[in-house]
Amino acid sequence: MPKINFVSAAGVTQTIEIPTGWTLMEGAIQNGVDGITAECGGGCACATCHVLVPAAWAEKLPPMAPAENDLLECTAVPRSPQSRLSCQIAVTGALEGLTVHLPERQT
Ligand code: FES
Repeated sequence: MPKINFVSAAGVTQTIEIPTGWTLMEGAIQNGVDGITAECGGGCACATCHVLVPAAWAEKLPPMAPAENDLLECTAVPRSPQSRLSCQIAVTGALEGLTVHLPERQT
């Protein structure tokens, strides 16, 4: 299972293992990662699973679908070029060691 690092807005890193095929959001919720709310349960309808992905990792992620791109306009902390919705990122072996940063708030 790939290890994924979640870094809180305060700079605290939590490393968890997420089974391949799960989304980053599912792994975060199942492991009690603070800072991911995921109000819609992964339906790409709430924007409360916002994460920031360093540019070096961007090309290893699945491409952003139009619905994700649209919903990123609704995040509590304004989107940046590094913004993604963690419910739209399925974990693969290529994401071993991925570090994502959490915004200050999700709502
Ligand atoms: S969990 Fe709602 S958009 Fe990701």
